[in-house]
Amino acid sequence: MKHILEELETRRQTARIGGGQRRIDAQHARGKLTARERISALLDDDSFEEFDMFVEHRCSDFGMEKSKIAGDGVVTGWGTVNGRLTYVFAKDFTVFGGSLSETHALKITKLQDMALRNRAPIIGLFDAGGARIQEGVAALGGYGEVFQRNVVSSGVIPQISVIMGPCAGGDAYSPAMTDFIFMVRDTSYMFVTGPDVVKTVTNETVTAEELGGASVHTTRSSIADGAFDNDIEAILEMRRLIDFLPLNNTDGVPELPSFDDPDRYEMALDTLIPDNPNKPYDMRELILKTVDEGDFFEIQAAFAANIVTGFGRLEGRTVGFVANQPMVLAGVLDADASRKGARFVRFCDCFNIPIVTFVDVPGFLPGTAQEYGGLIKHGAKLLFAYAEATVPKVTVITRKAYGGAYVVMASKHLSSDINYAWPTAEIAVMGAKGATEILYRNELDDPDKIAARTKDYEDRFANPFIAAERGYIDEVIMPHSTRRRVSRALRRLRSKEAETPWKKHDNLPL
Ligand code: HXC
Repeated sequence: MKHILEELETRRQTARIGGGQRRIDAQHARGKLTARERISALLDDDSFEEFDMFVEHRCSDFGMEKSKIAGDGVVTGWGTVNGRLTYVFAKDFTVFGGSLSETHALKITKLQDMALRNRAPIIGLFDAGGARIQEGVAALGGYGEVFQRNVVSSGVIPQISVIMGPCAGGDAYSPAMTDFIFMVRDTSYMFVTGPDVVKTVTNETVTAEELGGASVHTTRSSIADGAFDNDIEAILEMRRLIDFLPLNNTDGVPELPSFDDPDRYEMALDTLIPDNPNKPYDMRELILKTVDEGDFFEIQAAFAANIVTGFGRLEGRTVGFVANQPMVLAGVLDADASRKGARFVRFCDCFNIPIVTFVDVPGFLPGTAQEYGGLIKHGAKLLFAYAEATVPKVTVITRKAYGGAYVVMASKHLSSDINYAWPTAEIAVMGAKGATEILYRNELDDPDKIAARTKDYEDRFANPFIAAERGYIDEVIMPHSTRRRVSRALRRLRSKEAETPWKKHDNLPL
């Protein structure tokens, strides 16, 4: 009996060493943790239970039958993050470069099936060289099986991908279908085809970092939702993110104990808006002063910064915030900001996370670059997302809400539940100057007349009351009471029920 117990322990030890100490040392020398070290940092102490530790590949081509390593390049299992069930798989780069074989894929799909059946989030930690070259189509099929489950799980359980090393070929597509992708700066990169293939096909010379590093994907391609300086920081931030997320699409938002008074006034907000309507201010200040304990998890902070998206809490419960940022491009909506906002709104709606929208938007960005780039279609994504979202929606207009952008930013007309405006709100088709220049074109050579016309327009429209008279604004509120008003509104909207007609799915303008 003792001998059998010892044998189990020996087998476990062998499996845990993966591709061997030399490769583990190489991993550490690159500033990366191993798959098991990452999992142990991610999950609560002693909560991880590993599955399929002894699985080996079945390939016998290219002499592979002589080279088998228990676990086959991926560590899978379940555990908890701050007590809440979480499924995790981590690619083990020390074993065949973390590449995906048929059996490696089976380990992941088994985990995906369990996570979906038991309705809990799944996190993938990526550090891998793509399809196992020796396995050919069996590896490709394995990817397909993983992708299919990514899609079936989408909108049912949160799926998060963290890129912590190479992530090439098939390994890039599975994260692309998950809800969030995060990267580690300098040690991770993500692309469909690497620099060598790029050189052969397009004759471009490019490094892996230039092609698919964290800075590319967080600032240009918008593939990644954020980047962190090292493995530990990335993993700790993932624990923070999971605390904000529901376990699944029926579980409801998590509720954490909060010691921050929901009725807290923020008197500084009464002077947040500058006297000059063309002067910017930091919308993030409003978000941070509104949320519990100033705790805000921003999504895509480095991309399309003219719109801010992220998670905070009110009365301990998760809320998704979307806000125009006057500090960047005056908070205008362009194609990138629209796509960013739309994806975030849709995530919140999938998982029943209420949405709070802070509006200060001068309109959609004009110009050929935007129109040729499909602004109409991308702007429509944000409009579509807000209109179809049935979660509680609360909007606060702080200053400008002009033109189509007024409608798009969670207006009453797009089924928003409660729409507040600060007294400084200006809700109109466009700014006073632009409006008078169009309406009184024949008076343009008389500056005094134009100034008087502009003043007239401002007096009439540069306020929230025309909209309030029509009921498009439910209440004009004092800026300092924003947290109190929004918290109360969301409390009263908790039992909201919204009916939508049966459909297979909608046809979002892609
Ligand atoms: C088998 C692989 C492998 C792979 C790496 N290894 N990639 N084994 N299949 N795809 C092995 C190496 O042989 C090596 O084994 C170990 O992993 C570490 O690899 P190195 O090359 O020494 O590491 P490094 O220099 O850091 O380079 C990492 C890398 C590179 C950039 C990932 O290995 C690489 O380019 N690999 C191939 C990437 C690729 O083209 N994959 C196929 C994509 S096509 P030893 O024994 O020496 O430790 C694809 C199609 C799917 O994925 C499509 C689905 C839709």
